[in-house]
Amino acid sequence: MITVRSPGRVNVIGEHTDYALGYVMPIAIQLGTTFTAEPSLDGKTCIFSEVMNEELCFGDELVKEGKWIDYVKGVYRAIRLRGLRYIHLTGRLSGDLPINSGLSSSASLEMAIAVAQNEVARLGLDRLGMAKLGMDAENNFLGIPSGILDQFAIVMGREGKAVFTDTETLSYEYVPVPGDVEFLVFHTGIRRAVAGTEYSERVSVVRSALKALGISSSKYAREDQLSKLTELQRKRLGYVIRENSRVVAVRDALKAGEVSAAGRLLTEAHWDLAKNYEVSVPELDFFVEFATSHGAYGARLTGAGFGGAAIALVDKGKGEQLGRAAEQEYVKRFPHRPQHWVVVPSEGARVVSVQH
Ligand code: GLA
Repeated sequence: MITVRSPGRVNVIGEHTDYALGYVMPIAIQLGTTFTAEPSLDGKTCIFSEVMNEELCFGDELVKEGKWIDYVKGVYRAIRLRGLRYIHLTGRLSGDLPINSGLSSSASLEMAIAVAQNEVARLGLDRLGMAKLGMDAENNFLGIPSGILDQFAIVMGREGKAVFTDTETLSYEYVPVPGDVEFLVFHTGIRRAVAGTEYSERVSVVRSALKALGISSSKYAREDQLSKLTELQRKRLGYVIRENSRVVAVRDALKAGEVSAAGRLLTEAHWDLAKNYEVSVPELDFFVEFATSHGAYGARLTGAGFGGAAIALVDKGKGEQLGRAAEQEYVKRFPHRPQHWVVVPSEGARVVSVQH
């Protein structure tokens, strides 16, 4: 019997840069998925999800069903494509990570499975290898052209630290988050229904812009090259170039303990995302305005956008109150049910216990 804990993630800065092989700086959070499992003897994997209140089973056929179990199947398939062998499991998913809330519950599930299989089936993968299993599952099984941000954050996370990452080389650096601040996550209550197609469209525009410039990573793109591109490519890649520099600037500000400077950059990133990347919605903009005019150092949408969640960087102990005040105002204006959580940088996915 094995127990794995796999966190959710919040991206502090570096949005829509990972599939352009730029910089990101996420944290793993204290909310997460708990997976307990043991090898099954009947050639099938059966997993009960407490939050979905259902058990789903599959054998070796690994076909997509359009259900949450696809994330498990996608990881199994990625294992198989590497010439490795998974072991069928009987397992149970529980935990305190809200699903569909912009905290990457799907990548958290993928990494819970990857860590469990790595242990039980002795796959011999390192953390990066496990992150890649999840990205492979998303790209090649689920059909979402996402970058490695979510899975990387979830396996690499560390208490008290953000993970500054170069998504081209996958080199990374732990950046201390000052102990006197915390992050408030505000969920708009809008499930990102249209995110799939809009997201894929952003990916293809930015990738086509990089291709036109003959470079693979947005880190090598310069503003003065943008004139060679179409108007839309210019607008999108221009944002990515500025965002890459903001990730570096926020890293340096945090290292220097300059929380106000870091906060200002978060807010700047939000409005750039809203205006030039066009992935915000009035509900996210409302939160950013509310938070920044009620004492937050900075605020921005986090994750893909189009609904989902935003974060605010606030003094320790202030997040809960700000979250409640924002909700009160929000429900007067919008017909959705918001939620909020205060999160802190936490440990990445890991085996918690193994019993033989
Ligand atoms: C989603 C994707 C990530 C990343 C973000 C935007 O969360 O899964 O790979 O592209 O959107 O930064």
